[in-house]
Amino acid sequence: MKLQIINGPNLNLLGTREKDIYGGQNFEVYLKKLKSKFKNVDLNYFQSNIEGELIDKIHDVGFDFDGIIINAAAYTHTSVGLGDAIRSIPIPVIEVHISNTYSREEFRHKSFLSAHVKGIVMGFGLMSYDLAISSFTETISE
Ligand code: DQA
Repeated sequence: MKLQIINGPNLNLLGTREKDIYGGQNFEVYLKKLKSKFKNVDLNYFQSNIEGELIDKIHDVGFDFDGIIINAAAYTHTSVGLGDAIRSIPIPVIEVHISNTYSREEFRHKSFLSAHVKGIVMGFGLMSYDLAISSFTETISE
């Protein structure tokens, strides 16, 4: 199974950025753990701080891979373009957040992605990604 993880703006700073909210772990280190846990999954990772590059990646993999796990970070709350990109592809997309955005500022309660995704995992720290991947592997093996 081929899955694409897409991380949006400022998530390249995980491990150093607002550790009280996002934890002290760097994503590349966590990704190694994910790859060793999900040995049968071809896990691909892309991060960008640029909205158009995130949209391009959705187009690139969205007709070919088995699924996308996306944390669009701040663009979640602003980007009609990312929502439209998700609507435009046939493969399932899972929206992920490290924090529970509903327990935070009101502007984080709105997502332009949520209406177009298969499911949402949030609030479990980096484990949110693990749970999202499991949702694909468990569904397939049912
Ligand atoms: C985030 C939540 C967003 O509100 C925020 O802008 C982020 C990270 C999360 O993973 O909790 O950058 O998507």
